[in-house]
Amino acid sequence: MGRTARKTTGIFITLEGGEGSGKTTQARRLCERLSAQGIDVLHTREPGGTLLAERLRSLLLDHSAETIAPETEAYLIFAARRQHVDHVIKPSLARGMTVVCDRFSDSTMAYQGYGRGLDLRLLRTMNDWATGELTPQLTLLFDVPVPVGLSRRRGGAATQNRLDRETERFHRKVRAGFHALARREPRRIMVIDSTGPLESVAQTVEDLVMSWLNTYSARTSRHR
Ligand code: TMP
Repeated sequence: MGRTARKTTGIFITLEGGEGSGKTTQARRLCERLSAQGIDVLHTREPGGTLLAERLRSLLLDHSAETIAPETEAYLIFAARRQHVDHVIKPSLARGMTVVCDRFSDSTMAYQGYGRGLDLRLLRTMNDWATGELTPQLTLLFDVPVPVGLSRRRGGAATQNRLDRETERFHRKVRAGFHALARREPRRIMVIDSTGPLESVAQTVEDLVMSWLNTYSARTSRHR
């Protein structure tokens, strides 16, 4: 067995999805709900989460920079991920915290693998190296049709980053990639239809996570 989150005491939850899927708002809402239940929660994001990783994020998302090769993009993401895992995620899990991370390894498979066309097996190997095989116990995949997500993103107040500006075709490949990942790991990755109103999606997320946590703690206490 690799050095997965199962060997630590905390719970690692990731939120994934395409542009405009609402996952960032839902991550914040979920953390508020978990904290209100007395759960010690850390909200973080990728690329980012440490000083260096946030600097790498700026480089990655800046659309005024020179053209970035897909391989360079992947290296920058893995560099940021290693910092984040070593400095923030693993120490927090070791302290027993619940870590909620806005994007993680599945984004790399979806964007750099299915979107950019980099070799999936190579990406998995590099990702295992970058994370020390740390895998989330639960991943929520926020799913919206590409035109809906892009129009939310392009119509919103947030400035558009380098990846938002990619073609619709690129974003369709990313979405299909996320679906393929969810089919491959249906126990870990739960797909949430996030076309509906924010409040009803937030309620779905809360119900799903609370019931998952109950089952998870019952299962792990049986094994103690
Ligand atoms: P977001 O967190 O605001 O959605 O922006 C992060 C962007 O970075 C998003 O367009 C997806 C992209 N990204 C990748 O391409 N690969 C990755 O592994 C991660 C974590 C993010």
